Amino acid sequence: MAEAFEILVTGGAGFIGSHLVIALAESGYRPVVFDDFSNSSPSVIGRLERILERQVAVETGDVRDPAALRRVFARHQFGAVAHLAGRKAVAESVSDPLLYYGVNFGGTVSLCEVMAEFGVRRLLFSSSATVYGAASVMPITEDAPLRPANPYGRSKLMVEQLLADLASAARAGPRPWRIAALRYFNPVGAHESGLIGEEPAGEPDNLVPYLAQVAIGRRPALKVFGNRYVTRDGTGVRDYIHVADLVEGHVAALRQLLAGTAGEYRAWNLGSGLGASVLEVVAAFERATGCQIPLQVVAERPGDVAECWADPRRAERELGWRARRSLDDMMTDVWRWQQRQRDEERRCDE
Ligand code: UFG
Repeated sequence: MAEAFEILVTGGAGFIGSHLVIALAESGYRPVVFDDFSNSSPSVIGRLERILERQVAVETGDVRDPAALRRVFARHQFGAVAHLAGRKAVAESVSDPLLYYGVNFGGTVSLCEVMAEFGVRRLLFSSSATVYGAASVMPITEDAPLRPANPYGRSKLMVEQLLADLASAARAGPRPWRIAALRYFNPVGAHESGLIGEEPAGEPDNLVPYLAQVAIGRRPALKVFGNRYVTRDGTGVRDYIHVADLVEGHVAALRQLLAGTAGEYRAWNLGSGLGASVLEVVAAFERATGCQIPLQVVAERPGDVAECWADPRRAERELGWRARRSLDDMMTDVWRWQQRQRDEERRCDE
């Protein structure tokens, strides 16, 4: 029975982590949030509790701190760990690589050491399509070359390599590891309640949060980074996936890890398999919200690729999972969340 399993969710207060906590609880698992709240707000926990109508277990700590992890593992009986805690801004990784290798790679090493000590060897890892770098063939399969173009991407790839080595070293022994690397494409959207979503600190780096801030009037216009790419309309094409679909993919992978006994390391793309251009995203947002978005075409953003979308068929075949929600669903949910946040901010100002 799923009831028996407590699942540690590192980064459980973050954008994807908080949605994963809901999906796990709704699938009968008992998620335990582990977060240092360096890039998330403790108020997320209360909102999770409102959605789930029950208490959510929370442990505060840093994944780089083995003593903090040991205290948490001693208090719980985890069936598996979903490791989502990490830094994720490409530009910041270029200016501060030590932070990225320290948190993303070092944090995973300390987590795995403590997992081994406590005999917990089922792990879901939050990887990224960024490990593929500038792929030349679309859609991208899991067997595409891995050549990340920045320290953030390299830190994710180093973790994948570490985890593959860990699984292969233990495969033949009495204590096999079962590990899933989930390569996310572009997660967007928010919980349908409007209570949780993505909360970037400061000016958003990513398209959809930026768009939502233009719609509420916090920013004057959306800057379109280039309209001369070799794509349908000249703007960059990405594979947007609703965060609710993304976390359902985690639950499917977790079931697979928990069901088997043989050692395994496997990577799965979590994407919709559909590419959408910047202008198509804007059009979907306008349709879903009735807002007009002022656009300003500016230079291409350094490091951006023209297009990137997933071949998600391995996950469909092996996990029985695929993304179901449309771009319009994503935009509707983002808008509900953004409006709710604005209303809360206004109430605070009064
Ligand atoms: N874009 C704009 N204006 C903006 C922001 C983005 O035109 O203000 C464009 C980009 O040029 C790109 C598309 O919108 O064509 C999507 O950009 P995002 O920044 O939302 O997403 P990326 O695909 O660049 O990055 C995402 C994750 C990264 C990850 C990368 C590759 O945010 O963490 O996918 O997997 F590294």
